[in-house]
Amino acid sequence: MRKIETFFIRTYGCQMNELDSEVMRGLLEKRNLTFTSDEEKADLIIFNTCAIRDLAERKVLGKIGQLSRKETDRPIIGITGCMANAKKESLFHKLPYVDFIIGTNNIHQLNTALDEVLEGKTPIYIDPTFTQELDYLSAKRTHAISAYVSIIRGCNNHCTYCVVPYTRGPEVSRTPEEIVKECRQLGEQGYKEITLLGQNVNSYGKDQPQWNTLFPDLLDQLDQLPGIERIRFMTSHPVDISRNLMEAIRDLSSVCEFVHFPLQAGSNRILKKMHRKYTIEEYEEKVAMLRSLVPNVSIGTDIIVGFPTETEEEFEETAAALKRIRFSTAFIFAYSKRKNTPAARWNDDIPQKTKEQRLHNLLDIQQNVTQEYLQMLIGTTVELLVESTSKDTTLLKGRTRQWQQVLFPGTTDKIGTIQQVQIHSFSNQTCIGEVIASTARQTSLPIR
Ligand code: 5AD
Ligand code: SF4
Repeated sequence: MRKIETFFIRTYGCQMNELDSEVMRGLLEKRNLTFTSDEEKADLIIFNTCAIRDLAERKVLGKIGQLSRKETDRPIIGITGCMANAKKESLFHKLPYVDFIIGTNNIHQLNTALDEVLEGKTPIYIDPTFTQELDYLSAKRTHAISAYVSIIRGCNNHCTYCVVPYTRGPEVSRTPEEIVKECRQLGEQGYKEITLLGQNVNSYGKDQPQWNTLFPDLLDQLDQLPGIERIRFMTSHPVDISRNLMEAIRDLSSVCEFVHFPLQAGSNRILKKMHRKYTIEEYEEKVAMLRSLVPNVSIGTDIIVGFPTETEEEFEETAAALKRIRFSTAFIFAYSKRKNTPAARWNDDIPQKTKEQRLHNLLDIQQNVTQEYLQMLIGTTVELLVESTSKDTTLLKGRTRQWQQVLFPGTTDKIGTIQQVQIHSFSNQTCIGEVIASTARQTSLPIR
């Protein structure tokens, strides 16, 4: 039987994938394998993949192709994540050196698959099913202050461009008891912030009406757990964001005033073709209601440009919406045709160059909005949870409740505390400030 000692996990895509990688790291460490950050030296490399856009897939294929060309000491190679579900066993034809493939909802079978590979039974393919509970309690977290917590996996929305309902399956909520237990444990371990994850957190509990616990009820149960200063969540489908949720954001002291609220397009014809189930007018009504109930809320969004048949005028409607609504952050993507999605049957007729022009046009608009927002923050005092030292400077890094990143000079003992910081400038998307010493507040539990 082959012996291995070290492993490396390369993670692509969204926060859900990052959390799945943490779960896999926990599973592998349980069998006494050692994580190495030096990919070159790893005996096992797992590619936890993303299939949301073509570029994400090409990056993975390129990297695995490179490894496969190694003549000697080739590591064991495994593929998990959304590409595993989207492409299934066909990946073995494209990548003959891959030893195992496991779908997104089956990573609890990682060690069984690995045992079989070590016994020489390759390649191993675990057929995806959509029902298993993962071992989140043993996940090996990457960050010290902030942890992801999955509350609902999968998506039932079937937006026509999106591969997620086919890769991650239908919505399955975790029980409130499991979630509360995990968050309580995180608080005891010294985590200060939790981010509740789901493709659409606002659907939480709708698949299990007998629990009588919808998303705002869950937030209520999680509010003020010992040690947990802040609760964030993402993503929120505009159709499901209710007045109850807005009131929960307003009333629950640990729930942060930031909502990721993907608009996708500003034209009603395109929204309909995307199967987003709202009009731009309905979307803006929800934004107005949210802003009136939670005046200090900050709203982020996702936009897709170059969706099949999008005319110049329809694109201009999206540009106008971006100027009107003024999001604090916007992630802007060029449409990428995904196999087996409803939109794949339409001709991907917007030329790449036009998609790129539209993308840059929106990035420019958003940059102006962001600059004006950051300019307004200068001179104000904000409350930060200090997360870490900054990567490229000697400064500390924290975020406001509204998700704004701020750097400031300070010593590492401040990591994990709440600080009041006055903003004096900004660079790119990041604010820079100084602590106002007298107002610093110690969080309730020591950090690990
Ligand atoms: N092409 C481009 N962007 C996409 N997204 C999802 N599917 C596609 C696609 N096929 C974007 C959406 C979603 C975000 C996570 O990725 O904006 O909100
Ligand atoms: Fe994809 Fe739409 Fe579900 Fe988001 S809500 S994961 S865009 S299908």
